[in-house]
Amino acid sequence: MKHIDIKNIFADPSYIGQEVTVCGWVRTSRNSKTMAFIALNDGTSLPHLQIVIDKATGIDFEDAMPGGTSVKVVGTVVEAQNGGVEINAREITVLGTCPQEYPLQKKRHTLEFLRTMPHLRGRTNTFNAVLRVRSVLAESIHRYFQERNYVYINTPLITGSDCEGAGEMFQVTTIGYPEEGKYKNAEEYYADDFFGKRAGLSVSGQLEGEMAAMAMGKIYTFGPSFRAENSNTPKHLAEFWHIEPEVAFMELPDVIELAEDMVKHVIRNVLDTCPEEMKFFDQHFENGLIDRLEDLISHDFAVCEYTEAIRLLKESGEDFQYPVEWGCDLQTEHERYIAEKVFKRATFVTNYPKEIKSFYMKQNPDGKTVAAVDLLVPGVGEIIGGSEREADYDKLVAAMQERGMNMEPYGDYLDLRRFGSVPHGGFGLGFERLIMYVTGVQNIRDVILFPRTVGSIR
Ligand code: 4AD
Ligand code: MG
Repeated sequence: MKHIDIKNIFADPSYIGQEVTVCGWVRTSRNSKTMAFIALNDGTSLPHLQIVIDKATGIDFEDAMPGGTSVKVVGTVVEAQNGGVEINAREITVLGTCPQEYPLQKKRHTLEFLRTMPHLRGRTNTFNAVLRVRSVLAESIHRYFQERNYVYINTPLITGSDCEGAGEMFQVTTIGYPEEGKYKNAEEYYADDFFGKRAGLSVSGQLEGEMAAMAMGKIYTFGPSFRAENSNTPKHLAEFWHIEPEVAFMELPDVIELAEDMVKHVIRNVLDTCPEEMKFFDQHFENGLIDRLEDLISHDFAVCEYTEAIRLLKESGEDFQYPVEWGCDLQTEHERYIAEKVFKRATFVTNYPKEIKSFYMKQNPDGKTVAAVDLLVPGVGEIIGGSEREADYDKLVAAMQERGMNMEPYGDYLDLRRFGSVPHGGFGLGFERLIMYVTGVQNIRDVILFPRTVGSIR
């Protein structure tokens, strides 16, 4: 159906005086004896386009057109009193009617209510803005890496190895619940399964990313990761989108520099590209959001060693739910305290105890810590986890043995340390966590249209 995007009508003054066709869904309508008005949205623009119907033209508009109705409008673009543009309709065709039980009626709905209707919530202002910011951020992340000689790699979603070793892999099987007595043990079951081996959904593309980086030098992935984490929190999804650059010849300070530069770059871009959406979030989700992001971009991020972070937390006098001791993993409350109260900005925490981090991280000379880095931001906590990788074959094998890992699935990974091993590193950025930070939306379920969380799939 030939028509013009509402976004273009707003953006291009040369449409004024011209007759155009627009399509969309009615957000609201008002009706009087002589005139009627429709606020129309086609998804391309956060602001609605006003359609003005002068009943003298003979347009059939008996009742107010219910919200949700889809229409095609032919009319002339004219300047509106408020300085914008609107359309004087000549012809309105209803494409699809919408009955009164349509749940998105005029008033503002809570995010909890909207979560019950993922198929419709895209038609609200909030999701219009969230989905556009999401799309612009994704494009900007690709462009950031592409312009710097990184190669985009697609790593497998079905895998035989658990990258993070945290036992959070969803299992992939075609057998399901076996008949009584069919298999004597798990080994027999997996041997009979689709891949002849135990398989799962990848928690991270890093291991294969490292293999690609050992060939292409600089790579990044941008795809889904899956975690069967039983944590019902505002920042955990079972399926999230993951950006993982992996770079040969990159040491921990270079990883930190890349992460800071990339985050600042994509936030600058979204502020410039989506001013209306960002203003909307500033008004409705977090007052001062734009100033906060401008401030973030114009200052260096803080860097703090884990040991120092523990000292700061212990001296804080705060009554944390989870007690703090050297060796403990940082909980969201600790992460937020560090970023919000101590440094008051985005903060890299480095050199964590090896026991709480993954096997692949470069072991520091102190024998206790690894060259890990997390980026903690106010309001959210961790949005990035990364490290320099252990490039030494013997040290890597030792770390795996210490963890009691089954070495069999990691033969290829270990080969990288035999055939021209180099220092290298990278990080993983949780895309939804970045969107939360950029929009001020506080629940991760509201920055992806179809969230998958424990106990919930729709
Ligand atoms: O810290 P994580 O577990 O690190 C890795 O997976 C590494 N392999 C990354 C790398 O070095 N290439 O996860 C990285 C990021 C986290 O900082 C977080 O932002 C996000 O992924 N993340 C999640 N986001 C939403 N829901 C979950 N359940 C997440 N788990 C991790
Ligand atoms: Mg992490």
